Amino acid sequence: MRNAVGKEKAIIAVSGGVDSSVAAAIATKALGKRIHCVFVDTGLMRKGEAKQAKAMLARAGVKLNVVNASDIFFRALFGVSDPEKKRKIIGEKFIRVFEAEAKKTGAKFLIQGTIAPDWIESGGGSRDTIKSHHNVGGLPKKMGMRLCEPLRDLYKHEVRIVSRKLGLRSEISERQPFPGPGLAVRIVGEITREKAGIVREACAIVEEEIRAASEAGKMELPWQYFAALLPTKTVGVRGDERSYQYTIVVRAVRSLDGMTANFSCIPPETLQKISTRITNEIRFAGRVLYDITNKPPATVELE
Ligand code: XMP
Repeated sequence: MRNAVGKEKAIIAVSGGVDSSVAAAIATKALGKRIHCVFVDTGLMRKGEAKQAKAMLARAGVKLNVVNASDIFFRALFGVSDPEKKRKIIGEKFIRVFEAEAKKTGAKFLIQGTIAPDWIESGGGSRDTIKSHHNVGGLPKKMGMRLCEPLRDLYKHEVRIVSRKLGLRSEISERQPFPGPGLAVRIVGEITREKAGIVREACAIVEEEIRAASEAGKMELPWQYFAALLPTKTVGVRGDERSYQYTIVVRAVRSLDGMTANFSCIPPETLQKISTRITNEIRFAGRVLYDITNKPPATVELE
């Protein structure tokens, strides 16, 4: 990182997931005051994510600057339902926000926590594009900064090894992966603030209940566990009245590197709790499904 950036300043994009958090911790060690760490609140982050990421990274000596850009993202995504278009829009908007931050600070480099599966799945090395990861295939052709991607050749479990070797706390090294585009890839079809609110609450419930089940020794903590929202509404009954509401998917997978994954077996009583809490606590959720698909043929996220 020191070789690449030289005496220049750099900004780093942090999403709260393991790769970008580790990259930010390394960048701070390597570049000291010449690094400006940015967390973009796209409006598509998990519940309390900005606050949590800020506190967690502060404990690793990283100062995180939160930029609220939710209006920019929701406006750009309005009416767009194609998954690849959504990813490209998100990638482009991220860069525009970073460029504005770079202008303020005089940064010439953008450091990203890109890892091997990101560019492999984005069609790198003449492969088929499975999905354009926002930080690779979603990058616009023209941008006013040079890229520096120190984790580019590593897989997730190797990033965790680097993190442990650097003495970072387990809250960073063992952190659940979280995709850069955030909840956008967990909302199938068009994105609205209402849908983001629903999936944010549902994700929080799934995370809480699965963590509790794992702490009680009822199941192994999955590699990744979350909720997603389908645009399909189905008929139900609330009290004596007909309802017509959204469908939530519960997804939990075991994996080593995210390239392949098997669905996790969630105990029936935990599924029961998750389902009851989602339909009781989220007024617009009428049905809860459990995703029992491996990768391949599915991917971990729904878009
Ligand atoms: P998929 O859905 O491709 O996910 O099977 C594999 C792993 O990658 C994460 N993921 C992303 N991470 N930018 C990221 O930083 C992205 O655009 C992106 N898409 C998926 C996903 O959460 C899982 O851990």
